[in-house]
Amino acid sequence: MGNKEGGILRRDQLDEQAVARLGALLSSSLQPGDLITLSGTLGVGKSVMARAILRGLKVLDDIPSPTFTLVQHYPHAMIPAHHADLYRLQGGDDVLELGLEECLQEGILLVEWPERLGNINAISRLDIRLESAGDDMRHVVAMAQGSITQRLGSWPDLG
Ligand SMILES: Nc1ncnc2c1ncn2[C@@H]1O[C@H](COP(=O)(O)OP(=O)(O)O)[C@@H](O)[C@H]1O
Ligand SMILES: [Mg+2]
Repeated sequence: MGNKEGGILRRDQLDEQAVARLGALLSSSLQPGDLITLSGTLGVGKSVMARAILRGLKVLDDIPSPTFTLVQHYPHAMIPAHHADLYRLQGGDDVLELGLEECLQEGILLVEWPERLGNINAISRLDIRLESAGDDMRHVVAMAQGSITQRLGSWPDLG
């Protein structure tokens, strides 16, 4: 992303294609152990971004919304990837049963509605927030912690 300060990255006024392009770019910086959280209101584009990241990781299968299964696994991606949507998560225990920490140990974990995640140990994480910016446009703000910060330092500008 162009304007990068101390692990905070920001892009304004992105249409859907630009959001997807950002996801694709991001995917090329990811490594096993990265936690990517996607926050923002219902319908803002968290799944659009998640799908673009997964496509960037060469997921060729359908990418269904994990709204009901809570987590979908993509073991055959370039790096094993896991996509969780915790919107329907009940109570605090469920998150342990989902095995998300194990997912992170061997691959990349994408989480929609991370507010419901509770504490999870991640050596490296990128917290992405999407905000509505009027007609079909979005602002994207991301905060990096851990080794992903350096890897994102070389993000090229979106064309
Ligand atoms: N700039 C944009 N970025 C992302 N999605 C957009 C944008 N403009 C319109 N949309 C639409 O908004 C919806 C986002 O849906 P989705 O990704 O499922 O949201 P969420 O997962 O946040 O609930 C899609 O229907 C998409 O076509
Ligand atoms: Mg979604």
